[in-house]
Amino acid sequence: MLESAQIKQALQTIPDVGGGGDIVAAQRVANIEIKGDVVKLTLMLPAENAGEIERIEDACFDAVSAIAGVKDVTVVTRKAPGSPQRQPGPPRTGDPFDSQAPIPGVKHIIAVASGKGGVGKSTVCVNLALALSARGARVGLMDSDVYGPSLHILLGVDGRPRRGHTKELSPLEKHGVKLMSLGFLTDDSSPVIWRGPIVTGVVKKLLQDVDWGELDYLMIDLPPGTGDVQLTLAQTVPITGAIIVTTPSELSLVDAEKGLRMFEQVHVPVFGIVENMSTFVCPHCGEETAIFDSGGGAKISSRTSTDVIGRIPLHPDVRAGGDTGRPIVVADRNSPITGAFFSIADKILERYPKA
Ligand SMILES: Nc1ncnc2c1ncn2[C@@H]1O[C@H](COP(=O)(O)OP(=O)(O)O)[C@@H](O)[C@H]1O
Ligand SMILES: [Mg+2]
Repeated sequence: MLESAQIKQALQTIPDVGGGGDIVAAQRVANIEIKGDVVKLTLMLPAENAGEIERIEDACFDAVSAIAGVKDVTVVTRKAPGSPQRQPGPPRTGDPFDSQAPIPGVKHIIAVASGKGGVGKSTVCVNLALALSARGARVGLMDSDVYGPSLHILLGVDGRPRRGHTKELSPLEKHGVKLMSLGFLTDDSSPVIWRGPIVTGVVKKLLQDVDWGELDYLMIDLPPGTGDVQLTLAQTVPITGAIIVTTPSELSLVDAEKGLRMFEQVHVPVFGIVENMSTFVCPHCGEETAIFDSGGGAKISSRTSTDVIGRIPLHPDVRAGGDTGRPIVVADRNSPITGAFFSIADKILERYPKA
């Protein structure tokens, strides 16, 4: 069976525009789709360079066609502005991909995403924020999950932010982290149906109108899925890096992979995958059981060359922490699950250093 790693390897032999480095390293390959023995490549190349586009398209076609087992290759090129491609790091300024400037005072924006709901995205987001805060980082949380904002419940925040003397909204604070939520703007009881452009507008406004002060990390809980809403958000918000939460079941993995592709499309670096509910730890005897097939995160990791940065076991204390407004990281500092969250937080601190 064809693997995207094989295709990537073949593409790594093709020099980038101008000859410096290869097209994979330069993040020109936005997507690799494999259906049986047919491969579809999506490239992102600078619009003003027609000669180079043709050269790279031809080289891609030849390189992939030469792989044993490939019957047909389609190469689709999307024209990108001639800017340097995004590299992992702090929010960029002046990049034509950005339709929004970075938020003043905010060093890193980390998006937490998942292919589908119910995999523990919000739980992971909140506990990571608390772990980062416990390590001395200044952390804000922004709940942009239009389908079910829940960070205020997980953190045990009641009340809504008020407008101060200035126009700005002050985020609420709990357990040392700041929180702003789309949920503050809506009535809890009435379901809200948001369309992509409206959500983007509201999120933009929230990001601009909120007085975050100085933050090392703003963690954004994105709505689950990879539809228009998510895509526009990922394009609108200047995200430094994304974390994808998944459970080890096959369906969830397929969805998570779509999430990875979505970020690839908008040139947001994916920092890693968190496998949640990875094993079940018996609260009585402590025995660990893999309820879902274990090692699923490792499977997408090898298919997409994205790291699994942590595994969080399934444990009743995690849910209880969310239900009582005291997430496990603050409720039980000695739990091994808290330890698992700290280990992910330390990886974030290492990759995206705080001020
Ligand atoms: N590791 C875990 N162990 C036990 N329960 C968990 C775990 N992660 C999440 N949950 C529970 O699963 C439910 C869904 O989690 P949530 O974070 O709201 O998911 P999402 O934001 O992806 O929809 C919640 O009730 C939460 O408490
Ligand atoms: Mg959620």
